[in-house]
Amino acid sequence: MECCIVARLKTQPMWFSMLFVVGFVTILKFLLILLRGLYVNFLRPPKNLKKYGSWALVTGPTDGIGKSFAFELARKGLNLVLVGRNPDKLKDVSDSIIAKFGETEVKSVVVDFSGDLDQGVADISEAIQGLDLGVLINNVGVSYPYARFFHELDDNLLNNLIKVNVVGTTKVTQAVLSGMLKRKKGAIVNIGSGAAIVIPSDPLYAVYAATKSYVDQFSRCLYVEYKKSGIDVQCQVPLYVATKMASIKKSSFFVPSTDGYAKAGVRWIGYEPRCTPYWPHSILWAFTCSLPEFVVDAWRLWFCLGIRKRGLRKESMKKE
Ligand SMILES: NC(=O)c1ccc[n+]([C@@H]2O[C@H](COP(=O)([O-])OP(=O)(O)OC[C@H]3O[C@@H](n4cnc5c(N)ncnc54)[C@H](OP(=O)(O)O)[C@@H]3O)[C@@H](O)[C@H]2O)c1
Repeated sequence: MECCIVARLKTQPMWFSMLFVVGFVTILKFLLILLRGLYVNFLRPPKNLKKYGSWALVTGPTDGIGKSFAFELARKGLNLVLVGRNPDKLKDVSDSIIAKFGETEVKSVVVDFSGDLDQGVADISEAIQGLDLGVLINNVGVSYPYARFFHELDDNLLNNLIKVNVVGTTKVTQAVLSGMLKRKKGAIVNIGSGAAIVIPSDPLYAVYAATKSYVDQFSRCLYVEYKKSGIDVQCQVPLYVATKMASIKKSSFFVPSTDGYAKAGVRWIGYEPRCTPYWPHSILWAFTCSLPEFVVDAWRLWFCLGIRKRGLRKESMKKE
């Protein structure tokens, strides 16, 4: 069969043979990507997270993705350190986890990442002292209440975005890293965003997207720095997930529930340095990459201007 194809190609003009080879290589590449996608999403076994250590720390575990991560990690048999700003919500989550997974130990640390971070990080360091902490989920994050031009950002929002998304993630990572280095094992998951990686720009969310670019590059560099020390650093890149931050109440095929996202997210811990664990998000990512950047830029601008318009209308209705 191969010989037959080669023999027939020899009788064809040069341009045809070249076109055939390019087409063949392209199809082969596509098939390999598809097969790899099927394997990593559906067949690859998740890592045994207990091998990293018996405790996991989750920031922002009182709502959204972080809360579902906390439940999912408890389901995997890990004890939890929950770091959030609201003591009542922390207690609710902690009680529900203990009620559901009787043997899980849960410690709570109250930290407002937009407040005194030095004190917050000191409290976290104290709480994890002596714990076999193997997994860190740097999930806490804030975004704009609605899309805004950069010049419209007030100081408070600007500072919070940088403090919570950048400084918080960085300092919590530093606080847990020394213990992981001593034990020569650990998995760090930083929650990035499609806003910084999948789309070429996120107009009217510039500072949010920029903070998530930081998270992405920070993770990639740490992945290389600490791979040999047994620590797997990863940036997970969700697209839209149905949470209060995204202002999406109902999940759908392309917008998972937080539980759906966290289930997928936990399966990917310890593997690639950058990934989008929920597979329909990968389809959107591939589709976006196939479009010219100026088309995606224009679509995103139009989309975000719509969000801004609705946000302004809501705000003015509240004032009336
Ligand atoms: N949802 C999406 O579509 C999406 C897409 C891409 C990336 N992400 C990223 O995923 C992560 C989680 O987002 P989410 O949608 O789950 O958000 P969410 O539903 O708004 O939950 C955010 C969590 O962070 C906590 N938090 C917020 N500000 C805090 C502060 N100053 N101090 C301490 N805790 C604070 C919240 O606490 P309270 O319960 O007290 O409010 C809550 O537990 C973020 O890093 C976000 O950037 C989300």
